[in-house]
Amino acid sequence: MNGDSRIGPSLDGIINRRIRLVKDYVYSEPLEKARGNWTSGKLNKFMQDPQKMYPGTSMQFSMPLENYERRAILRYLSGIKTIPAEEDKN
Ligand code: HEM
Repeated sequence: MNGDSRIGPSLDGIINRRIRLVKDYVYSEPLEKARGNWTSGKLNKFMQDPQKMYPGTSMQFSMPLENYERRAILRYLSGIKTIPAEEDKN
């Protein structure tokens, strides 16, 4: 995986990525318990209200996003799957 985690985990290749995949990132308990993959539909809902989807998650939004903004973010995220560097292959 490329891309560093900062406040949140790296979102490199997040669309259809397994939930809580980033190994060096310490997730909150609600995300630790979560199962499944980040489909674009799920991401869209999560962005609308992270706390509603995973109550107690450390991801918080103070400002609601508009529909078109979420669509633009999803479009952006679908384009940032980086090609793994040589040392990342196993
Ligand atoms: C629209 C932009 C954003 C999107 C699409 C997004 C998406 C995500 C996703 C999908 C995860 C879970 C990743 C995984 O399962 O590996 C996550 C986690 C997280 N994000 Fe965001 N995020 C956004 C903005 C932010 C912002 C602005 C902050 C804080 C300033 C933030 C803080 C966090 C934190 C702290 C976590 C870890 C949550 C936990 O462990 O409960 N995110 N984010």
